[in-house]
Amino acid sequence: MYVNVAVLKETQPHEKRVALVPSVVPKLIKLGAKLHMQAGAGEAIKLADTDFKDVAIVADRDKLVADADVVLAVQPPALGVIDAMEEGAILVSFIYADKQPALVKRLLEKKITCFAMEKLPRITRAQSMDALSSQSALAGYYAVQLGSTHLGRVLPKITTAAGAIGPAKVLVMGLGVAGLEAIATAHRLGAVVEGYDVRPETQEQALSLGATFVETGVDARGDGGYARELSAEEKTKVAAVLTKHIQQADLVITTAAIPGHASPKLISKAQVAGMKAGAVIVDLSAEGGGNCEDTRPGETTEVGHVTIVAPLNVPSLLGEDASELYAKNQYNLLVLMMKDNVVALDWDDEILAKTVLTHAGELHKTAPKPAAKPGKPAKKAA
Ligand SMILES: NC(=O)c1ccc[n+]([C@@H]2O[C@H](COP(=O)([O-])OP(=O)(O)OC[C@H]3O[C@@H](n4cnc5c(N)ncnc54)[C@H](O)[C@@H]3O)[C@@H](O)[C@H]2O)c1
Repeated sequence: MYVNVAVLKETQPHEKRVALVPSVVPKLIKLGAKLHMQAGAGEAIKLADTDFKDVAIVADRDKLVADADVVLAVQPPALGVIDAMEEGAILVSFIYADKQPALVKRLLEKKITCFAMEKLPRITRAQSMDALSSQSALAGYYAVQLGSTHLGRVLPKITTAAGAIGPAKVLVMGLGVAGLEAIATAHRLGAVVEGYDVRPETQEQALSLGATFVETGVDARGDGGYARELSAEEKTKVAAVLTKHIQQADLVITTAAIPGHASPKLISKAQVAGMKAGAVIVDLSAEGGGNCEDTRPGETTEVGHVTIVAPLNVPSLLGEDASELYAKNQYNLLVLMMKDNVVALDWDDEILAKTVLTHAGELHKTAPKPAAKPGKPAKKAA
């Protein structure tokens, strides 16, 4: 017995990641997988098909998925993939259902059991499967690198015979996974770092990473460890405190997000106008519209004497490491789905129950009831 696992080549523009890397191949095989991968799936991160030992390379995408028990991908796949999959098979990838109504409809019609990586609960036991976290950590690191390449000055203090310069002041706004990694990186590079978030528990985390914390007196803890939206009154209170810190910074990194909402605006046009000449904003929340009123998602713009960098899909820019971590996250999730070389879905497991998006033709915005039907059985060895 084995479980037929198929890995797709990503097709979305500028997507370099792949859901399988060579180091994860032996682990999946040990788990009971028979691996197939679309030809060229790793080429954007310089992995040749021949680097994937013991993986059957299939050129035709539809043939690849037609016989698969489990299909792995990074981005929501094309509708044609779902059409070609066998009814009742499993798909594991990022989906973001609200942005993909046609895909969700097709998943339901084909009775695909779809696990959406972004639905994984943020609980301790699920940390090794948490792709949002692994990808955000890389993005937080990269935001500092991007910002420093646009700065006309150094981050650390550097002393020369002609005198000393630096350190630069870095302000990180939004201290989730990406923001905390940005603080750690900027601190390691010698900058003087400040952090700010509306969740008070982030203060201790920022301090432990070498930053100081900007206190605004506003507590906006929402559900599930996430933030809630601020009222108009709270926004005014916050802006009054933040203006000074924004305008003293050389580099501002913003990462603020509220799940299911547009990115909160943390920096106004007026605040940008008052920033230091040569200052840089790296807006990591560009995907959700951006944290700065002047942000243009996907673009790098000059607004007066300030540079605003607003990249999209930042983890893909570090495709090699992002794929490595993503593939490990998916492997750890598959460990919960496979037992004795067959697919065995235990809906009493909180992680599977909360991560599933569609199963047996039903949409699960929240967890399905326990004791739902198990997934599709695996194939017998030929
Ligand atoms: N236990 C676990 O395994 C685990 C793993 C990862 C994340 N988490 C938790 O999940 C939560 C979300 O993390 P994330 O990285 O996905 O965050 P996220 O991407 O949803 O948001 C980034 C940050 O923006 C902040 N934010 C929102 N509105 C803001 C505003 N108006 N001003 C300033 N900051 C604002 C949020 O508080 C958050 O810290 C956090 O509580 C994190 O600690 C837990």
